[in-house]
Amino acid sequence: MSGAIVHVPLGARAYEVRIGSGLLDRAGAEIAPLLHRPRVFVVTESRVAGLHLEALKAGLRARGIAAEVLTLPPGEATKNWPHLTQVVEWLLKKQAERRDVVVAFGGGVIGDLVGFAAAILRRGVRFVQLPTSLLAQVDSSVGGKTGINSPLGKNLIGAFHQPALVLADIGVLGTLSPRDFRAGYGEVAKYGLLGDADFFEWLEENGPALAKGDEALRLEAVRRSVQMKADIVVRDETEQGDRALLNLGHTFCHALEAATGYSDRLLHGEGVAIGCALAFELSARLGLCSQEDPSRVRAHLADMGMKRDIADIEGDLPDADGLLALMAQDKKVLDGQLRFILARGIGDAFVTADVPREAVRGVLEDALSAR
Ligand code: GLY
Repeated sequence: MSGAIVHVPLGARAYEVRIGSGLLDRAGAEIAPLLHRPRVFVVTESRVAGLHLEALKAGLRARGIAAEVLTLPPGEATKNWPHLTQVVEWLLKKQAERRDVVVAFGGGVIGDLVGFAAAILRRGVRFVQLPTSLLAQVDSSVGGKTGINSPLGKNLIGAFHQPALVLADIGVLGTLSPRDFRAGYGEVAKYGLLGDADFFEWLEENGPALAKGDEALRLEAVRRSVQMKADIVVRDETEQGDRALLNLGHTFCHALEAATGYSDRLLHGEGVAIGCALAFELSARLGLCSQEDPSRVRAHLADMGMKRDIADIEGDLPDADGLLALMAQDKKVLDGQLRFILARGIGDAFVTADVPREAVRGVLEDALSAR
């Protein structure tokens, strides 16, 4: 098997992200060294279970590991208090012990929910992330952010709880819909845009082939993304500074997601891609980066067949002031002031609170009037 390992050296909480094809089939061998008894507790969702649960169970069985399985409904709505209660109560009923391992088998929703359940069960049990979406493989499964949504906003309740191991099986990406794959790609492009101009150039060259299914290119894109995330998380595990860079595009994205009701109208990664283009537009208007940079960002998203402008979102949206009001719920608000991730160029992002509201409104008004 060709593969790669990215180390996340966080002292007592250090772990590996293993990336490759066929990891599900070998899950038993990969997870066995973590176990005190041959039993794991797998939490998944019905779409992933239908496609991949048998392969995972067979991989665990091959090493004599029994799997208790809880299957939840798919979708963002699962990341709530009732499902958190369900997972924790199920684990207690199944007598999951302090030294046992919980497996989060799914995309970002399952990873966040199950990671949070593991963080609070018996004051913290270990968990393994088995991410099945591109978005989860390159972003949410790494770095220990876990949590659920509140009716007042996304991810407002949670904890930092690092996984004990991440197994990113590139093979499972083959069953994603093209739309879901491209949405995850929004986060991949984000890494190049925020901190690695060479990687962005590599994506401009290889992105379309990677989207068509080239596994070697997919492996390399996931490896480089995870390596960059690991480097940032090691510098700033609990987001006191640099980690906020990973939120490039997210302030705009969160407002657009709220405005579209967290629905199929706009997937998270699509919002990130549009948000990145808007962040570069804002940076160019503030004279921080060249006028060509936002056009280059949009050109690459267009090459990838992705949404890249607010105009690409179907249906009604609030006006610029409405979107600004939605931004005020962002977790990056500090002392009542909105913080943005802006860029001095491709691969050179920074965090700032020094953004005139009028400039943001101007970018939004122009983007909305292009609809
Ligand atoms: N998804 C952003 C972070 O993990 O910090």
